[in-house]
Amino acid sequence: MAQIEWNPELSVGIEPIDEQHLKLIELLQGLEDAVRDGKDAALIEDTITNLFNYARVHFTAEEELLKKHKYPEEKLHQMEHNKFITKAFEFRESFDARKPGLNIEVVNFLSSWILSHIQITDQRYTRYLKKHGQV
Ligand SMILES: [Fe+2]
Repeated sequence: MAQIEWNPELSVGIEPIDEQHLKLIELLQGLEDAVRDGKDAALIEDTITNLFNYARVHFTAEEELLKKHKYPEEKLHQMEHNKFITKAFEFRESFDARKPGLNIEVVNFLSSWILSHIQITDQRYTRYLKKHGQV
């Protein structure tokens, strides 16, 4: 898979959320590079921990925003976030420096997930918030 990169099409039109998405993508880029370059296992584990922790901070911020504005699909959105957290957690648990191919597959999965989540699922709530004049 091509390198995951921020581009204007990923903007949801809400600045603090865009900034968080950018940071999330940077963390994923860092993880992808570290796994691809066969970096030290300890460094990769730290990188995935940072990604995992930041994803939780970001998802919580989004979920609070959606709750505050009574977004009808808030629960569904939260379930999607939980899937990512579970996958990232599983990756941290099963990370094996001797099996780089398998690891890069998981990183690619996480990257694809984030991109499609931002472009499809997050755009749905931003459309709703804008329509209701809440952002
Ligand atoms: Fe989201």
